[in-house]
Amino acid sequence: MFRNLARSGNRLATASTRRTQRLYSTAPPKSSSGPTFPAMLAVASMGFAAYYTIVKSREGKTMPRRKETTTYEEEEALKQKRIAEAKAKKEQKQTKAIPAFSPEEVTVVFVLGGPGAGKGTQCENLTKDYGFVHLSAGDLLRAEQKREGSKYGELINNYIREGLIVPMEVTIALLEQAMNEAIAQGKEKRFLIDGFPRKMDQAVKFEEVVVPSKLVLFFECPEEVMLKRLLKRGESSGRVDDNIESIKKRFRVFIETSMPVIEAFEKDNKVKKISCDQPVEQVYQGVKTIFDEMFAEKK
Ligand SMILES: *[C@@H]1O[C@H](CO)[C@@H](O)[C@H](O)[C@H]1NC(C)=O
Repeated sequence: MFRNLARSGNRLATASTRRTQRLYSTAPPKSSSGPTFPAMLAVASMGFAAYYTIVKSREGKTMPRRKETTTYEEEEALKQKRIAEAKAKKEQKQTKAIPAFSPEEVTVVFVLGGPGAGKGTQCENLTKDYGFVHLSAGDLLRAEQKREGSKYGELINNYIREGLIVPMEVTIALLEQAMNEAIAQGKEKRFLIDGFPRKMDQAVKFEEVVVPSKLVLFFECPEEVMLKRLLKRGESSGRVDDNIESIKKRFRVFIETSMPVIEAFEKDNKVKKISCDQPVEQVYQGVKTIFDEMFAEKK
């Protein structure tokens, strides 16, 4: 888990060692009061080498000398080897990540819609009726935020309060972990992922490292309707973002960053739109029609 985070952590670590090494290879700082440790080590080892040579020659043996001339073939072979190594390294970098799951084995449906579009309510019944596991990116983030000892709690809290999108490495890692846990518990390998991806890069990354999605369910809803629902929910939810300021920010973020995601999936013919400006039961009938067609046979 947190593979991506760990990977970037390593990159940072390597970068800082590289910097240290570069410092070592240049001249010692002028202000330094005595020889540096590497300098002392170099002098000591030279001294030892001289001593060793003398002792060996006294014994009538000569030191093995480094071969100074190489044949043309040897040079050429070495050159070819270096080229091959560089090429392999480059290819390794270019290789795309292999998704954690195959789409034949694991079904993912993205459930999108503005805040307050009723995604959670619809997902609840889809879970019961079609054997899907419901994963809400928002709920996973909020749970991680509250989890004792979480490295990301504070970070997540700040992003959510500002109505911003949490860095995707965190969200994707939490989703993949939740999927693995559900599969380990023997649940259906069908997932409704609600409130994710909220940005194009998240969509691309998720499909690259976790699994490509089968369907994108998009709940269309006028802003006034969503606002009314959210303010009502805020009376009881206790969520830090169910206040008018946060809600307005979330609407703006949704229009600017999430609509392009839906447009991109539309090009792949993966999007089904449902208007949710109607009673929830009616909305659900629309959703059922789609699911009966696509997933019923597996129930
Ligand atoms: C969800 O299912 C319950 C019980 O089956 C039903 O009463 C409710 O109306 C359903 N909700 C929606 C949104 O269809």
